[in-house]
Amino acid sequence: MKNGTCWLDQDGKRIQAHGGCILFHKGIFYWYGEDKGTKTRDGRVDFLGFSCYSSRNLLEWKNEGRILSAVSKPGHELGPDRVGERPSVLWNPKTERFVLWFHLDSADYSYARLGVADSDSPTGPFRYLGSVRPGGMRESRDMTVFADEGGLAYLISSSDGNSTLLISELDHSYTGFTGREKSILCGQYREAPAVIKEGGRYYLLTSGCTGWDPNPMLCAEAESIWGRWRLTDNPCRGEGRRKTFGGQAACTFSQGGKWYVLLDHWNPDDLSDSGYSILPVNAGADGIDISWQDNFGGIDRQWNKKNG
Ligand code: GAL
Repeated sequence: MKNGTCWLDQDGKRIQAHGGCILFHKGIFYWYGEDKGTKTRDGRVDFLGFSCYSSRNLLEWKNEGRILSAVSKPGHELGPDRVGERPSVLWNPKTERFVLWFHLDSADYSYARLGVADSDSPTGPFRYLGSVRPGGMRESRDMTVFADEGGLAYLISSSDGNSTLLISELDHSYTGFTGREKSILCGQYREAPAVIKEGGRYYLLTSGCTGWDPNPMLCAEAESIWGRWRLTDNPCRGEGRRKTFGGQAACTFSQGGKWYVLLDHWNPDDLSDSGYSILPVNAGADGIDISWQDNFGGIDRQWNKKNG
């Protein structure tokens, strides 16, 4: 697949899974994302809902339909006039349910809340449970979720006018918070967070706050989730590194002992035509780095045969 372009599903239609996440469950990859398949006006689209695609090799994607759709009732929180972004799905082994978190907002981004929904099937439909703000009334915009070892999971979102990233621990059901939280990278104005855990260290990829325009990615590192996070460097290498190769991180995922990052290549004039790329993340003793590749060739076939 040609990186940077809008990929097609098995029916030859453009994949609508922007700002998305990839979950591997029982031999199948599920790609959840924003369905932006409608007209772009003034740099935004009406909220349609979140889609799901499935694949065994990350190359051929079957459209599984919407997992949560907009609700066309006047004043509804999930109305078409709203913003629904960065859907992130976790599998909860204790409750055996799939939990969806997303950035829920008004068209002017002042609502700044989190929506949560759950389902007993990876392809939904998901039941909408409502919206919350972390820590009571903290703002929450760009976000990600991360399932750690030992069943713990965290939601990380841009808060306080996007100046801070807020880590909130999810409770045993993953549909609420324990109340344990920490503000990190205060005053740094980072968004599009995505976590990598490698060799016992946590790495947090983030972008700057320039809307649909690409900017330099920065990496932050910590020894533990509640430890001291320090901004390190731009992990991108080579030509295009100052603009994250024209993209912005949507999510990270690991497969066969390797980490990958999925980027969105936003097209603000036609958001439905925004491209994607998947790049391998090299992790070593000196940290992580990411280089551009013109094509993504899927995952290791041998590994897939053994485990798929
Ligand atoms: C980006 C953000 C996207 C979307 C966009 C709207 O900075 O990462 O998810 O919110 O702004 O302009």
